[in-house]
Amino acid sequence: GITPHMFQYQLTKWAKKVIKHIVLPEGTDERILKATARLVNEEVVTLTLLGDPKEIALSVKRLGLTLDLSRIRIINPAHSEYYEDYVNTLYELRKNKSVNMEMARDLMTDVSYFGTMMVYKGHADGMVSGAIHTTQHTIRPALQFVKTKPGITVVSSVFFMCLPDRVSVFGDCAVNPNPTAEQLAEIAISSAASSQRFGIEPRIAMLSYSSGSSGEGEDVEKVRQATEIVRQKRPDLKVEGPIQYDAAVDPTVGKQKLPNSEVAGQASVLIFPDLNTGNNTYKAVQRETGALAIGPMLQGLNKPVNDLSRGCTVDDIFNTVIITAIQAQEE
Ligand code: ACO
Repeated sequence: GITPHMFQYQLTKWAKKVIKHIVLPEGTDERILKATARLVNEEVVTLTLLGDPKEIALSVKRLGLTLDLSRIRIINPAHSEYYEDYVNTLYELRKNKSVNMEMARDLMTDVSYFGTMMVYKGHADGMVSGAIHTTQHTIRPALQFVKTKPGITVVSSVFFMCLPDRVSVFGDCAVNPNPTAEQLAEIAISSAASSQRFGIEPRIAMLSYSSGSSGEGEDVEKVRQATEIVRQKRPDLKVEGPIQYDAAVDPTVGKQKLPNSEVAGQASVLIFPDLNTGNNTYKAVQRETGALAIGPMLQGLNKPVNDLSRGCTVDDIFNTVIITAIQAQEE
């Protein structure tokens, strides 16, 4: 497998192939400004920040950042020449969801709505936000009007977990609290595509507290059904489930519990049965091993929008912007 170091090097190289334009709605946040300086100076993307230009210029000065402000765009949503157009578009897109003109005006002063509308309109190629705002606040506009790609019903997410000797793909650890078997199957298929796209050969483990046919219970049954659906829809994919985490990643345990499996012991894509398991597992691995977790990267949207965690570091922002830019190259 690819080493974490190679992976990060690859990401930057890929992003530079076709430079994309990303909007960062939280332009006044210190970490966002520090990441902006690095991204602009390393010439991996072009950036628009949302916020008050004067306030941003003052912060850049106060932080002592090496950042030539003429190399980025800064937009104050309410003063933007596009504000009226964006309000009208939001109204048209959401009027059947009981959004009236006054609400549309109000919503468009919100940086998450404005940034997402820039992406919808093609005025930016992708958006990264969530250093200050909650996940819900950040991704709701995208769910409401960027919408899912044809053939996809559910937006989900993956983390690229940079473990000491390999990069594993964890899904879904950020969006869907309690997916049905059908949704879980779709999450697995989307995660395999994301894995492939980022150079990691997908071998999918559908995780549960039981491996093979040994366990019983409603939760195990859901994972069993989801695995069957993946096999039916995508016979070309390598998938195993239900399977426990140790049997998925440890060759000795894998061989013992599922001797005939192509996935057991060497899984690269780990699909969690629900958000309680997924979110806490990714955080536990990250905190207890020091592994870098890149993401969450949303998958299934028509255009890329990604959410940061409020505890994010400058490095997290840097990496998330890069993966967003790579996603935008596909569009
Ligand atoms: N995929 C596609 N569309 C969706 C999804 C989804 N997963 N979820 C909601 N939608 C759509 C709905 O269909 C609806 O569309 P419509 O208005 O056109 O009919 C719209 O989005 C809003 O739906 P709501 O049900 O109101 O969803 P809400 O915006 O309240 O919540 C959210 C969506 C934010 C994803 C919610 O499921 C959630 O809070 N998930 C957990 C997030 C979280 O706390 N994660 C852990 C922290 S993240 C971390 O640790 C990095």
